[in-house]
Amino acid sequence: MGKSQRKFYELPLSARLELLAAEAGISTDELTVLDGAHGLTPEQADHMIENAIGVYGLPLGIARNFQINGRDVLVPMAIEEPSVVAAVSFMAKLAAAGGGFTTEASAPEMIGQLQLLDISDLAAARNALQSHREELLAMAGSVDPVLSRFGGGPRDIEFREIEDSPIGPFLVIHLIYDVRDAMGANAINTALEQLAPRVAEISGGRPHLRILSNLADRRLARAQCTIPLSVLGFDQYTPEAVRDGIIEAWAFAAADPYRAATHNKGIMNGVDAVVLATGNDWRAVEAGAHAYAARGGRYTSLSTWSKDEDGNLTGSLEMPMAVGIIGGATRSHPVAKAVLKLMNLSSAAELAQIIVAVGLAQNLAALRALATEGIQRGHMSLHARQIALASGAIGDEVEKLARQMVMENNIRSERAVQILKEWRK
Ligand code: MEV
Repeated sequence: MGKSQRKFYELPLSARLELLAAEAGISTDELTVLDGAHGLTPEQADHMIENAIGVYGLPLGIARNFQINGRDVLVPMAIEEPSVVAAVSFMAKLAAAGGGFTTEASAPEMIGQLQLLDISDLAAARNALQSHREELLAMAGSVDPVLSRFGGGPRDIEFREIEDSPIGPFLVIHLIYDVRDAMGANAINTALEQLAPRVAEISGGRPHLRILSNLADRRLARAQCTIPLSVLGFDQYTPEAVRDGIIEAWAFAAADPYRAATHNKGIMNGVDAVVLATGNDWRAVEAGAHAYAARGGRYTSLSTWSKDEDGNLTGSLEMPMAVGIIGGATRSHPVAKAVLKLMNLSSAAELAQIIVAVGLAQNLAALRALATEGIQRGHMSLHARQIALASGAIGDEVEKLARQMVMENNIRSERAVQILKEWRK
């Protein structure tokens, strides 16, 4: 069989890289950093964090079949959990049968918070600050001329009176800042520092915290997809049973925070893997996701699933997505740099949309499995591969040993070691 006819996962690692480079229109040399020997060096790590003692590796995979707004996209995922990359790739294929994912993103506006204490008359302080709104915005805008040149900068100032707090009432200023293609934490935090003394003069209050909010609910990304009924059935499961089972599974998460946490964890399996691969701050995205899931006062599902008038399954996902393609580790981490090159993105908003599509695909994969055969069956062979690897299997042994253990329904490291010993006698 010719190389081009073989499935991506059937190719050896080096051939996968060649294919990817060709698909992305870059040279394979640019992907050398992925080989484990040329990625982040301990010396680079030493400049990134304190007390560095080395580097920590994770598998980097490519999810296939993603069609987003009519464009085929390559989706790099850094993740240690088996089955995630395969599952999203398969779901992306089902979604492609319905036209792929449709996505959009709001303007890349982050929120910076300034806590203002020791104010006796909150309304008066607020009014005074309001009347200096333009001056404050201009001041915030002068902090990052590069961002302003690219069309970013401060957009608005909002005020919130916090009445009910353990230390009594205080005022919070929200600086709304368009950070364009950056994640934006630095720009926001610097602008807040700049504003603080002038805010104190105008209001008579004492500026306390000056920090961005990870509840980035003005920087949302949305994805939706339609899975035709015709591709939903498998084995003994009818398309209708799969569709309705997925909707029932979603309803559980929509109504119950205990289930919603796990449901959203599945979404984050996809989201975090791309966030991490591209050198972005996955803790920030996690914090934003869960705070957004609780915005109505009760923690709930980030996604929704229903059926359209033709009986097809439709899904959507909306969540904050504070990711950048410039600055931070996106530029200093050699693997993240290569990954971004591979993705050939035109903006951070485009990355945000891809990520949310992957989150939706991962959610679909989990619900489809849970609503039918259960999650364990699909996990077994991948779990077996991990046990085989951990037990010392190498090369072809890994696959063979995993198969043997699944067949015996005995996936334990003691058994793996025993089989290996017998084979190697
Ligand atoms: C496991 O990593 C993720 C799932 O638990 C998600 C879900 O339950 O929806 C399978």
